[in-house]
Amino acid sequence: MYREGQATAIRREDYTAPAFWIDTVDLTFDLDPAKTRVLNKMRLRRNTDLPTQALRLDGEELNLARVLVNGAGTSFKMDGRQLVLENLPEGPEPIELEIFTTCNPAKNTSLTGLYVSNDSFFTQCEAEGFRRITYFLDRPDVMASFTVTLRGDKRKYPVLLSNGNLVEQGDLEEGRHFAKWVDPHKKPCYLFALVAGQLVAREQRILSRTGTEHLLQVFVRPGDLDKTEHAMNSLMASVAWDETRFGLPLDLERFMIVATSDFNMGAMENKGLNIFNTKLVLANPATATDVDFGNIESVVGHEYFHNWTGNRITCRDWFQLSLKEGLTVFRDQEFSQDMAGSSSARAVKRIEDVRLLRTVQFAEDAGPMAHPVRPDSYVEINNFYSVTIYEKGSEVVRMMQTLAGSEGVSGRAGFAQGMKLYFERHDGQAVTCDDFAQAIADANPQSELARVLPQFKVWYSQAGTPRLMTHGEYNAEAQTYTLTLAQSCLATPGQPDKVPFVIPVNMGLLDTQGHALPLQLRGEAQASGHNRTLVLTQTSESFVFVNVASVPVPSLLREFSAPVLLEANLTDAELLTLLAHDSDAFNRWEAGQRLALNRALSCIRAGADPALSPVLDEAYITAMREVLRHPDLDAAFKELTLTLPSEGYIAEQLTEVDPQQVHAVREAMRGQLAQALQADWAWAYEQYRVTGPYSPDAVSAGRRALSGMALAMLCVAARTSKDGMWPDKAYQAFMVAHNMTDRFNALSALVVSRHALAKEALAKFHALFKDEALVIDKWFALQAAAPDHGGQVLPSVRLLMQHPDFTLRNPNRARSLIFSYCSANPAAFHRTDAAGYVFWSERVIELDAINPQVAARLARAMDRWRKLAPAYRSAAHMALERVAAKAELSSDVREVITRALAE
Ligand code: TRP
Ligand code: ZN
Repeated sequence: MYREGQATAIRREDYTAPAFWIDTVDLTFDLDPAKTRVLNKMRLRRNTDLPTQALRLDGEELNLARVLVNGAGTSFKMDGRQLVLENLPEGPEPIELEIFTTCNPAKNTSLTGLYVSNDSFFTQCEAEGFRRITYFLDRPDVMASFTVTLRGDKRKYPVLLSNGNLVEQGDLEEGRHFAKWVDPHKKPCYLFALVAGQLVAREQRILSRTGTEHLLQVFVRPGDLDKTEHAMNSLMASVAWDETRFGLPLDLERFMIVATSDFNMGAMENKGLNIFNTKLVLANPATATDVDFGNIESVVGHEYFHNWTGNRITCRDWFQLSLKEGLTVFRDQEFSQDMAGSSSARAVKRIEDVRLLRTVQFAEDAGPMAHPVRPDSYVEINNFYSVTIYEKGSEVVRMMQTLAGSEGVSGRAGFAQGMKLYFERHDGQAVTCDDFAQAIADANPQSELARVLPQFKVWYSQAGTPRLMTHGEYNAEAQTYTLTLAQSCLATPGQPDKVPFVIPVNMGLLDTQGHALPLQLRGEAQASGHNRTLVLTQTSESFVFVNVASVPVPSLLREFSAPVLLEANLTDAELLTLLAHDSDAFNRWEAGQRLALNRALSCIRAGADPALSPVLDEAYITAMREVLRHPDLDAAFKELTLTLPSEGYIAEQLTEVDPQQVHAVREAMRGQLAQALQADWAWAYEQYRVTGPYSPDAVSAGRRALSGMALAMLCVAARTSKDGMWPDKAYQAFMVAHNMTDRFNALSALVVSRHALAKEALAKFHALFKDEALVIDKWFALQAAAPDHGGQVLPSVRLLMQHPDFTLRNPNRARSLIFSYCSANPAAFHRTDAAGYVFWSERVIELDAINPQVAARLARAMDRWRKLAPAYRSAAHMALERVAAKAELSSDVREVITRALAE
């Protein structure tokens, strides 16, 4: 995040092993908000594989007081931000290096390195924050044994935590005390953590399957203990899951989670001392929604699973980030699915994951920040903690699982064998994505994955979302069905030409009544099963099915078996068959989305006025009524199916976007669905409301989601009918709600339908929750994402910035108001008078002076500016130029803006 000097690109091909190894580190902290003193004693060793060279230690924003080599003073120089020692003893013998520095945690608003939040100390070292704590070889392939002594005022900082085991503690003079921690596992410095402050813990002792005892702790501020039960339950479930599913046990006596309200991301997997954004720890029924409960479970799982995939085996360099992130997202997605239980609840989770991938990652992959899952270069690594590394990376691992099966071995079993081999080979090492893929393939020599491995790895090296074009040809006479699969991929920055990917296509065939047809490919002796994985490796390939008795409806890319843009061009009749009958729940949902999308796109492409001619036809509305009233479908699935594709997703399908038009069309569709199904919504609202005590389980959460949606639709319909009954009911429901999910759904129904009662309800909501920071975030976010009419959202956002509860310094608060407006409310943001863009440029610049990582995320709101219709585009261009013209920009924001402006 340097402001001085020229930010240069780091390239993967330039990787060289470190010139020195650091075997042990002994750190002593004298904690003081304005001046913390850090004594760093290291034992180093030359890497004798390399020619003798100087030691170059990374450091940033440090005051250097002393350097000793083997106990004696030494000469050193500074080269930029690096501390260079040129005259270290030659030869392989260990070298003792002692470095004494100070830093200023109270002034650290970037929330990386050591910082103060609510009078407590926290650290965030990934990716390159450790260099803001002491001089070090700040790179993940240098793994050391850490001993940490923390000293501080006992009254102000009664709790002193670091990684590993507490080996000693006691009192010191002048009201101070100390704690000494030893981490039994070697680790890269990005996994170092310390926490000091007034915290309290929920504790739980557990026994592993092998009978060893562990202590689990969740630390929060006093007063928040009543919101830690769900996080603890999630942690216990995570420990049990990793043992059962992958045979990976907890390798520490003590495992700690600490929550902080000032945090740049979701959470961090520091060894034995995970640090979390409060948003992903604190929950009780009164303050957190079902979605919050679900997010907590998945992120607690994610960070815990990193203990093996990330910490025990870590990344050789940051280009390999997806080695740990893609794999760990895959693991947390599988965990959440297993926790959800029924096959239908699993499908719901899969649909939610795919929806995120397609709306956010596909957009990234089509924009100026597109990069491969294993990037070739970066300026600022923080910008590459991206949906591509995480979500697409997870899809790449999922495809490996799909392709790891062989005769008599399921993909899942093959993949588990691959994981076993991966740990046998690489435990304790810093490795690459190639090492991972090789282990999975080597453990399954008979699998498709082993056969195609070199080409499969194109998923790691090539950016961009492939298009999968399919065409089916039925020959009634020969009773054959020829399915042709073809692929292409558009150019991305730095990659003009693309080679074919390996695309696993799960599929089946239905007859027009919706029955599954047996599948027999030409050359096969007999039909077997109703589901296949076809593997496309060429630009185009045909698959011939024989003995197909009647014209089939193809169900393609079941469970979304590959992260591609499917262009199947199915007819409405085919889609309606799939929606009603497909055995694959994902494709049922997808058929409904496709039907809605096709209607939105034809209205937009025709330039039709949605106010004059209805966008939705009777066939679609009837199909949606059938879904809503269906006796067997789960509520959660119904809610997902009845939710129209988002404005962002619709926009991605267009070559040129007028956000106002997209908004108008989608609003018209929603209005129509609200009106046409009014009686059905009223039925659903009563039918699905949950009474009785709150439980966040998938079934009740699904019911709350559907009844909440019904209430919103009824309020939307009431706008036209001018009937006040439903808004009154919503207000009533808001007032008497027993939990945050129902309360927030009712409040949203009033806000979304722009009813006069919304104002009163919002005021009431604030009064009720004024001391609950995470709820106040919801209050800001809801207003910033409110539907725009006559351009009132921007002035209201500007006004909310003046609210006493607002501050740009707290990332959660900044995200709740500023990001919700700039990234989650397209029609309010893309104003025809460009005022939204001006607001964006002001906030990016303002935030950059406080916190470059957060500012760079906000900068991404303009990623897709080139797709905008001309009037918006030129205004967006000016706003980008305005930011680019600032001399004082962090490398984080500079990189995003430069790439956005590049041709
Ligand atoms: N490794 C963390 C995770 O995915 C991500 C993370 C947390 C992070 N805080 C960060 C990345 C700060 C960069 C900067 O679990
Ligand atoms: Zn992670």
